[in-house]
Amino acid sequence: MRTITIKPAAITHNLAQVKKLAPKSKVLAMVKANAYGHGVAAVLPALQNGEQQADGIGIATLMEALEARQLGWHKTIGLIEGAFTKDEWQLAIQHDISCVIHHEPQLIWALENTPPATSATRVVWLKYNTGMNRLGFNDQTLIPAAKRLHEAGYQLILTTHFANADDQNHPLNTIQIQRFNDMLHILRETISSDIKGSLCNSAGIVNFPEHHHDWVRPGIMLYGSTPVIDKSAHDLDLQPAMEFSAQIIALQTVNAGDGIGYGSRWTAAQNTKTALVSIGYGDGYPRVIDNNAYVLVIDAKNYQRYPCAVIGRVAMDMIVIDVSAVPESAALNSKVILWGDAPHVDEVAAHAGTISYELLCRLSARPNRKMAES
Ligand SMILES: Cc1ncc(COP(=O)(O)O)c(C=O)c1O
Repeated sequence: MRTITIKPAAITHNLAQVKKLAPKSKVLAMVKANAYGHGVAAVLPALQNGEQQADGIGIATLMEALEARQLGWHKTIGLIEGAFTKDEWQLAIQHDISCVIHHEPQLIWALENTPPATSATRVVWLKYNTGMNRLGFNDQTLIPAAKRLHEAGYQLILTTHFANADDQNHPLNTIQIQRFNDMLHILRETISSDIKGSLCNSAGIVNFPEHHHDWVRPGIMLYGSTPVIDKSAHDLDLQPAMEFSAQIIALQTVNAGDGIGYGSRWTAAQNTKTALVSIGYGDGYPRVIDNNAYVLVIDAKNYQRYPCAVIGRVAMDMIVIDVSAVPESAALNSKVILWGDAPHVDEVAAHAGTISYELLCRLSARPNRKMAES
C-alpha cells in the first residue's frame, strides 16, 4: 500500500537538536504548508512532548492558523505573511494570532483596530527587508512604522528572513545580519529596550550561532532534512520524520535490448529482473529523477534491505525498479521505501534536481497516512 508514515519521535528529537543549538532562544516551529507535508494534526503533539516544547508555531495563511487553533494549539501562532485583508486582521484578533506586519496597509489595519491589551495579537512581528527583497519595510519606512506601532501599544519583534543562509559563505549573509543587528540596536535605543528580534530559520540556526536572538524559526530541520549545503542530516543528527513507502505489485524479466515504460527511455543491457512498484507522480514521487535514483526493497523473509535503481520513466501510478540483485524472497507485496532513513529525502531531492521541501509539500492525498508506533 502507498503509505506515508509520520514519526513524532523524530520531530521531538529534531526539536531537541534545535534547542541544543539555540538554547537561549524561543522556538517558533514552522508548520506552514500542512507542516511541510507531514500533516499539522500529526505534528502539533510532537511539538509539545514532555521537555521538548515549541513556544509557538509559524504559519503562512490565516486558514491554517484557524485550523491549528481548532486542533487545540493554545500557544503563540505567528502568521508569517500577516493578514491579507482588514477582515483577516479582525479574525486574527478574534483568534489571538500574532501577525507579521510587512507593509503600510497592514500597519493601517493594526493602528485602526488595536486588539485588547491581553490579546496575543498585541505582539506583532515587524518585517524588515534586509536583502531578500520580497516582504518588509525598508531603512526609511521601518523606524516610523515601529514608532507608530509602539505608541499604539503593540509589543514588537523585529524580524527578517535570510536569502542564502544555506550557504554559510554567501556574502549577502553578513550584510543581512549587519543590517538586522544595527536596526534592532536603533529600535532598542530610540523606541524601547523591550523590542525583541527574530532572524534565523533552520540554516541560520546552524550557520550563525552568534545571531539567534530572541526567537528562532526552524522549519525543515524539524522534519529531519538538512538546511545547509555542506552538512548532511546525519552530520547534524537530524532524524527523518517521514517514511514514504509502497509495494511491489508485479515482477518481470525484460530481455536485453528491450525498453521500459513511456518513451522506452531505459533499455536493458542484459536480461534484467524488474519489479513494478505502485507509486508515481500521482502520489508525489518526482517524475524528473536522474539515473542514480534508487529505492530500498525490504526482503519479506529476512528483512534485508536492498537498494534498487529506478529504471524508465516515473509514471502517474507506477515505477519500475531493477531487482536483479534481490533474492527471490523479495516478491510480490514486498515493501519498498521511496524515502525515509534511506534513501533520505534529501538524496531523492538531489536526484530530482529540487529540494526536500518541495518533495515533502507536494505529496498528494492518495497515499494512506499513518503514525509510527514509537
Ligand atoms: C519567514 C520564515 N521563517 C522561517 C522559515 C523556515 O525556514 P526553514 O524551513 O528553511 O527552516 C520560513 C520558511 O520558508 C520562512 O518563510
